[in-house]
Amino acid sequence: MKSFRMVPSVTEYKEFAGYAKAAGLGADDLVVTNRYIYEPGISRLGLGCQTVFQEEYGGGEPTDEMVDAILEELRDKSYGRIIAVGGGTVIDIAKVLAVAGRTDTVDTLYERMQELRKEHPLVIVPTTCGTGSEVTNISIINRTRKGVKMGLVSEAMYADEAVLVPGLLQSLPYSVFATSSIDAMIHAVESYLSPNACALSEVFSVQALTLILPCWKAAADGGGKDAWKQYAAEFLRASNYAGIAFGHAGCAAVHALSYPLGGAHHVPHGESNQVMFAPVMKKYAEKKPDGKLVELGVLVSKLLGCRAERGLEELYVLMDRILERKPMRAYGVTEEELPRYADSVVETQQRLLGNNYVPLSRDEILAVYQSAY
Ligand SMILES: [Fe+2]
Repeated sequence: MKSFRMVPSVTEYKEFAGYAKAAGLGADDLVVTNRYIYEPGISRLGLGCQTVFQEEYGGGEPTDEMVDAILEELRDKSYGRIIAVGGGTVIDIAKVLAVAGRTDTVDTLYERMQELRKEHPLVIVPTTCGTGSEVTNISIINRTRKGVKMGLVSEAMYADEAVLVPGLLQSLPYSVFATSSIDAMIHAVESYLSPNACALSEVFSVQALTLILPCWKAAADGGGKDAWKQYAAEFLRASNYAGIAFGHAGCAAVHALSYPLGGAHHVPHGESNQVMFAPVMKKYAEKKPDGKLVELGVLVSKLLGCRAERGLEELYVLMDRILERKPMRAYGVTEEELPRYADSVVETQQRLLGNNYVPLSRDEILAVYQSAY
């Protein structure tokens, strides 16, 4: 059995200025970020750090071309620490930069994945409340030249330090809050139900849900698109805890089934997970209604103040108040595509399917898609 480990140290500062001062950020540091994060919150601190703005190298998810262009730009520069301040894309790029030597490209890094070592100390400051990527050692790069999207995974890609700064979440648009907190909630549930969970990872799954569900409820009841902001620290911690939990126990069918939808129809990660969440959970309940699913229902019911047997149903209702759930067809998926989706999940997502609460056959996966359609 894999033993539970948490590699990065985790600290929390209310504002970025507090971290910058404590860490003594300066000219020898390279900040990897987006301009819309840097301009309002960091540039006025006059730290003199070197910078890389991700959007200058391309938009959306990280690709080999984007990362190679950044590596080329950095080839003649001298810097020590890499400080990633951003969402999933910025963090995934910074993890790769931290293990890249002067002559590396994305292709050479994948070729020698087993031997990667850390070239620069890495600090990760997440600015969304979902990925938990600040505490995991995987970076997903779309290798456009090879036509595959694959994870670069290495011990060397763990951050040395994860820094939680709730103040940075204040400028997050509501839609990003909604999709990222849904992603974090699903990380917590999938890691909790995973057969690879252990007593310690469970503590983090449970605590993530204990933070997210009451804060979601308060934010939804509070009304207004900004009501969640007073719970920014709770959502950020929850995302971090859920990241620690799934870093050990893994994510499962919800993530596996959401990838074809996200990839083919460019649906944000948390949103495509939301589409699959209730249908997958209902299939689990059909196949194995006893066991940990019951414990999860009891936990959720306590957090939401409802009867135990209503727990999961109330969770779906609450999630849909945070973001209205759409059926797959609303994204342009056709019914004829569903068997292809099921086949591709079985072919390419075995790493995730191995963490399922119960095994799902190809036909059961197709049935889940049909109920989400
Ligand atoms: Fe996720």
